[in-house]
Amino acid sequence: MAFIPVCEPMLAGNELKYVTEAVSTGWISSSGKYVNEFEKQFAAYSDCQYGIAVCNGTIALHLALVALGIGKGDEVIVPTFTMIASAYAICYTGAKPVFVDADKNSWNIDVKMIEEKITSRTKAIMPVHIFGKMCDMDVINALADKYNLYIIEDAAEAHGALYKGKKSGSFSDIAAFSFFANKNITTGEGGMVVTNNKKIYDRARYFKNVCFPLDGPRNYQHDNIGYNYRMSNVVAAIGLAQVEKADEYKGMRIRNHQLYKKYLADVPGIIFQSDSAEGCEDVCWMNTIVVDSEIYGHHKDELIAHLKENEIDTRLLFTGMHKQKAMLNYGCDCSGNYPVCEWLTENGFYLPSASSLTEEQIKFICKIISDFRK
Ligand SMILES: Cc1ncc(COP(=O)(O)O)c(C=O)c1O
Repeated sequence: MAFIPVCEPMLAGNELKYVTEAVSTGWISSSGKYVNEFEKQFAAYSDCQYGIAVCNGTIALHLALVALGIGKGDEVIVPTFTMIASAYAICYTGAKPVFVDADKNSWNIDVKMIEEKITSRTKAIMPVHIFGKMCDMDVINALADKYNLYIIEDAAEAHGALYKGKKSGSFSDIAAFSFFANKNITTGEGGMVVTNNKKIYDRARYFKNVCFPLDGPRNYQHDNIGYNYRMSNVVAAIGLAQVEKADEYKGMRIRNHQLYKKYLADVPGIIFQSDSAEGCEDVCWMNTIVVDSEIYGHHKDELIAHLKENEIDTRLLFTGMHKQKAMLNYGCDCSGNYPVCEWLTENGFYLPSASSLTEEQIKFICKIISDFRK
């Protein structure tokens, strides 16, 4: 079988048509109909009223925090098991990330451990829907209400995921998405913040656009430090075409995940993220497995090497934020124990996860894993 990459984008709709239209009409900056249309449609897809397209998901998280006025002296609670962008964005504002371990089954932030990390400086909780699995938003919302905290959803990996019938991105004051090339919906590089709060929306679009007055004249007078986080019309043209296919692509990722589970069901020592909770739909961004080496008979590194010999690409999982020199040097408290995160990092990895994977490819990958078991 030919080489199977860990992920590749699915560009099977109107991408070329819209990009061609943007280029041929000369609308290639951040002005142009595709930016507005992409914002409108993606926000609606996420059960939100407002969307603001930006250059990538990291910036979307930063803009979300800026829009809420989070800064120096503040603390934001975030899972230690996440992509470093979640924590970086908090650091960009001058605030401090405070880490919480993952739950052993969902691999999301352990909601039972959040409350003990709340202090008088805590301003927000940033739940991250890891690998497209929704966090337990009822518990997080209750904590936010009790302590008067903001919620910023890091929904970078969870486009279209459902929690009790509502979409990811609609459970927070403001949420951030990534459209990096491996995401279920992609623009190559890109991101968006979504919100249902008009005030927060206005602040976000003000700071995104170098703090030009929102409705006043462009007189080049700026009252605050702003950012140029604008997305171009060419990139948004791809985004719009992707949103049109969002449910189709989501269905393909979910199907792939189900196939992996089916073909690996009888392989002892292979552990998956827990299934979607009742009334929820996780979107299976990356097919991740954790290898219990005592039962499987090999450490995950040996399995990764074996898959590579068979032309199957894989990726390691995140190293916890509490293990990052960058976080320690920034002044975060990296002491304490984070056993679940460390277990995931040590024993887990991603299998190929592109929407376009065929059942034959997945069957082949699973057979390699099954046959290698000692
Ligand atoms: C959980 C999480 N947050 C934030 C980001 C940052 O997104 P981007 O790569 O678009 O900057 C990612 C990217 O993969 C992510 O997985």
